[in-house]
Amino acid sequence: MIKVLYSEVQIAQQVRLLAERVDEYYAPLVSESQPLIVLPVLKGALMFGADLSRQLRVPLYFEFLRASSYRAGTTSGALHLDIPQMGQFAGRHLLVVEDIIDTGKTVSRILEALGECAPASIEVCTLLDKPARRTVAVEPTFCGFTIKDRFVIGYGMDLAERYRELPYVGELCTS
Ligand code: IMP
Ligand code: MG
Repeated sequence: MIKVLYSEVQIAQQVRLLAERVDEYYAPLVSESQPLIVLPVLKGALMFGADLSRQLRVPLYFEFLRASSYRAGTTSGALHLDIPQMGQFAGRHLLVVEDIIDTGKTVSRILEALGECAPASIEVCTLLDKPARRTVAVEPTFCGFTIKDRFVIGYGMDLAERYRELPYVGELCTS
């Protein structure tokens, strides 16, 4: 049993609003010769990164980051980061796109690693934020929905690699 928290329609509406804010923010900063670099964090931000970018009007290109920490259950294991093409990030505007910020460990490690590339700026755009579980102080620049401490699935997010394909964000009900 899955309880829908945010429907496909609600997500699409929020993604459009976020894209407007992201466009407004980057319009004076990026150009055809200096496009924004959009960095979805795989696998979770697959859907959100694809939908958000299709609403953006500023010049951009993609690089994909890979972070894996969640093992079989709902608690995290050791974090593994894979950041390709770091050499090209110097002097560029970087937008990290996340599905959800939970403890903040993943995104803070990503920010630390990207910071070493001397970019012009780094911002974070997340679909969901769970501030109640934060152990590392980190704030997303752009956030779709703030949620309570609950484990969610769908729209890219998984439980042991399942449910990523759901078009909505939901919660698994045990009863
Ligand atoms: P953090 O490092 O604790 O902030 O966790 C970040 C990553 O853990 C996210 O990018 C997700 O991939 C995963 N994660 C955190 N909370 C959830 C959840 O409720 N459902 C599915 N994945 C989650
Ligand atoms: Mg993730």
